Amino acid sequence: MKDNCFVLLISGRGSNLKAICNTKLRSQIACVISNNPEAHGLEIAKNFGLKIHIINHREYNTREEFEKVLASTINLYSPKLIALAGFMRILTSWFVTQYPNKIINIHPSILPAFVGANAQKDALHAKVKISGATVHFVNEKLDHGPIIAQGIVNTEFDDDLEKLSSRILELEHHLYPFVIQKILDNQLKINSNGYVSVNKTETDQTNLGKFFNYTFY
Ligand code: GRF
Repeated sequence: MKDNCFVLLISGRGSNLKAICNTKLRSQIACVISNNPEAHGLEIAKNFGLKIHIINHREYNTREEFEKVLASTINLYSPKLIALAGFMRILTSWFVTQYPNKIINIHPSILPAFVGANAQKDALHAKVKISGATVHFVNEKLDHGPIIAQGIVNTEFDDDLEKLSSRILELEHHLYPFVIQKILDNQLKINSNGYVSVNKTETDQTNLGKFFNYTFY
């Protein structure tokens, strides 16, 4: 495995995993780890020929025990990055401090608005005009941590949960591979005040496609 590899943590559907696999990043995925043995994403990972680990959190008495196994599995690969892609476990500060500035997450809202598991529903309920997705470093507080990039989609008067969620998801599928590539290419800098700067290059427009003009990084 290359030095510049990363690990993906999933719990469910795996559409972000699939989007990442459909880019050249696939060759750098060291393994996919799921806490849920039933995760559909595991099938996707298998179809792409990726190494898989299932670490079922229900088999451990405490969060800490689960995380010790998770960490020792991750450490087998010495990854440069740990990307959460629909990973539905809250991580303890012990785990997070093992990997400073190495864990990232994608969330379906413009953080800090609408943290938690119902972001799209909460956005609809609030009747916001714009919504979107955020990629951020993970710290011990749910859906917090330095923001790396944010993309925007509009909302429509007749949006329902399905319509808004799928518009955001399409954005996610461009944004997440884009950010992962930037990190693996050392194109990020965390400034002393916590602001994350991302270097811009000519290929960004191609990689972000129609979302280029509505993505901030
Ligand atoms: C995405 O909406 C992501 O933003 C959130 O969980 C969902 C995962 O979807 N953190 P998928 O499993 O990648 O399809």
